[in-house]
Amino acid sequence: MNKEQETNMTSVQMLGLELPTDPRWVNLAEKELEEVLTDHAFCEQKAATYCISLIQRYPDKEELVKELAPIVTEEWGHFRQVLREMEKRGIKLGRQRKDEYVNGLKAFARKGLGRDERLMDELLTCALIEARSCERFRLLSLYLKEEKLRDFYHQFMVSEAGHYRLFLELARRYFPREEVDARWKEFLEYEAGLMKKMALRGDRVH
Ligand SMILES: [Fe+2]
Ligand SMILES: [Fe+2]
Repeated sequence: MNKEQETNMTSVQMLGLELPTDPRWVNLAEKELEEVLTDHAFCEQKAATYCISLIQRYPDKEELVKELAPIVTEEWGHFRQVLREMEKRGIKLGRQRKDEYVNGLKAFARKGLGRDERLMDELLTCALIEARSCERFRLLSLYLKEEKLRDFYHQFMVSEAGHYRLFLELARRYFPREEVDARWKEFLEYEAGLMKKMALRGDRVH
């Protein structure tokens, strides 16, 4: 194992992910920076929107509302940061692409559950998206050639790591720990399978 692979393994172990991203992804992403930034901007926008939607659908879960309200602001701030970075580089926002990764994860959520039971899968889906985003941002923060961009991605990596932990904690607050951990394991395995199935592309975050 070379140093790069070792670093990637550490990150994956830290986040619990089962499959480290192929390190070649950073080189691909570097060549398609415009597309990656566009995709990243929409990811941040969707993260904010999804937190709002959880608050709207679970207003009775006080802790969830209290914890997610500031995350909406944070994710929207991320969106604005990415927009500013794009502006500096003369890149237009462009259109949103079909989100194969997020749609794939959402398909894993159990169907036919009531509102309250569904919450666990919703929170774990969010935790997983945050974890994978964090892992990818970390790779960008380590291996991109441009120093400013490495710093730019470092902040996102730190922030999304915090969100990953928060979503997992929220799931454990509303459901028995052993049920959450068992389901989380299933999610991790499923996600690894999804990543393997998806083509490695440099024009997207996931
Ligand atoms: Fe974010
Ligand atoms: Fe996030």
